[in-house]
Amino acid sequence: MLGADPRPLLAANWKMNPVVRADAVELARGVAPAAAEHEGAVEVAVFPPFCWLAPVAGALDGSGVGLGAQDCHWERSGAFTGEVSAAMLSGWCDWVIAGHSERRAMFGETDEQVGRKAAAALGAGLRVIACVGEREEEMDAGRTEEVVRRQLAAVTAAVPAAEAHRVVIAYEPVWAIGTGRSADPAQAGATMGFVRAGLAEAFGQEAASRVRVLYGGSVNAANVTSYVELASCAGCLVGGASLKVEEFSTMIEAVAGVADGRGFPPTPTLPREGGGS
Ligand code: PGA
Repeated sequence: MLGADPRPLLAANWKMNPVVRADAVELARGVAPAAAEHEGAVEVAVFPPFCWLAPVAGALDGSGVGLGAQDCHWERSGAFTGEVSAAMLSGWCDWVIAGHSERRAMFGETDEQVGRKAAAALGAGLRVIACVGEREEEMDAGRTEEVVRRQLAAVTAAVPAAEAHRVVIAYEPVWAIGTGRSADPAQAGATMGFVRAGLAEAFGQEAASRVRVLYGGSVNAANVTSYVELASCAGCLVGGASLKVEEFSTMIEAVAGVADGRGFPPTPTLPREGGGS
């Protein structure tokens, strides 16, 4: 497990929130105590909008909470109006999200671009959460594995196995994001197992075992345990519920409770769902 963080990861994707700087600072300060209390068992990272990275970094100083951006550009610099490069982010934060489904759907981000973003982020010394997940019509057509395989392959092709430990894959079914319609844990677990198998194929079993696979999509305090208990799941990417201090703090506690009872991340041998070992 050299180079792998053995803790489950609870990542807070704040999206385009909060609107006011003081609220961003307050939110960061609010979640820091629970994160600090359970730091040994759970890794917590928050992903505010670009403009709040600096004030949130100040608010989190010494808390052990990681900080990330929600996107980056793959070029180092140049004529890319409105963009922020991975190279610019290094020094301001530790993480970046690549290929969130909202960016794919609303801003036309392609698999190839997501791969380039992941590679640029690693090159800049950042850690990456790369997102994969099928749309509802793709699930209905029985194409979940085909879509996830294609999206994952674009990421693994861009990442050397030696850097795999700095990559996290978030499986987020698009139909579950922001809808309150969270995926059935067994079904999500099966797809995360499929992701793990794809990682092993791309990186080899040992390097793949260092990649954490998260679930995302309407995760909240009531259901977070049902995902983190799955053998293939090493944490969650949380949107809406991460904007509520009390709820997110409860989630940190819940994940710590599961983490205390088992070793993370899943063992290199492909785990079976439901065993929780
Ligand atoms: P949600 O968002 O928790 O609000 O569904 C998750 C995400 O988009 O990462």
